[in-house]
Amino acid sequence: MLSARQLDVMRGSRTIVAGVDLCIDGGAALLIHGANGSGKSSLIAALAGLLPPARGAVCWRGANVRDDPARFRRELAWLGHADGFNGELTVAENLRFAAWLGAHATHANERVVLDRAGVLPLMHTRLNRLSQGQRRRVALARLVLAGKPLWLLDEPTEAIDDTGALWFAACIDDHLRGGGMLVATTHRPLAVDAARTRHLYLERCAS
Ligand SMILES: Nc1ncnc2c1ncn2[C@@H]1O[C@H](COP(=O)(O)OP(=O)(O)OP(=O)(O)O)[C@@H](O)[C@H]1O
Ligand SMILES: [Mg+2]
Repeated sequence: MLSARQLDVMRGSRTIVAGVDLCIDGGAALLIHGANGSGKSSLIAALAGLLPPARGAVCWRGANVRDDPARFRRELAWLGHADGFNGELTVAENLRFAAWLGAHATHANERVVLDRAGVLPLMHTRLNRLSQGQRRRVALARLVLAGKPLWLLDEPTEAIDDTGALWFAACIDDHLRGGGMLVATTHRPLAVDAARTRHLYLERCAS
């Protein structure tokens, strides 16, 4: 379970997000909405441990993530605006490198996942030769292959076409049905089972 209590997030000297409380159990999703600049990316980065909260705490399975960050990272799959791929390596090489880093275990259905993601024909193409949407599909396939219980995703379907968005919605569905958790920022509606989904709407902080 992921929770946050009275979380404040600052950027420079400005409080961007103030007093956020949230709690996500296995099988549940939280979608974070808000205008440009309202603090969605800042909040999700704080949940992932990439920005230290100015106040409050993020807890994973009941313990402050600061107490055992390595354990949290083992169970966390993070996808931000930057995907961390090496543009000079092929898709296959990047995925192999991610697996070697522990970003994904050997997935029983790896080929099926890559096929459904539409990236199989791209496996021997260098990352910097892909379109934005193709690249994002590879990042989402890497996420699915990782098999981590907690997904923290900043605009996951950015640049993805409707077919890709449908594929990824099915992946989210499988993830949640398997007891996984999802927190995602999104401008675009994500087709997530409404019964499993809560929404958080951010407004720009005055300070
Ligand atoms: N590195 C930074 N240093 C200082 N201020 C920042 C930094 N990154 C973001 N901000 C400020 O924090 C505020 C929130 O930014 P954030 O990226 O979290 O918004 P967002 O809701 O994700 O926006 P978008 O919808 O455009 O992705 C903005 O006012 C922005 O100017
Ligand atoms: Mg953002």
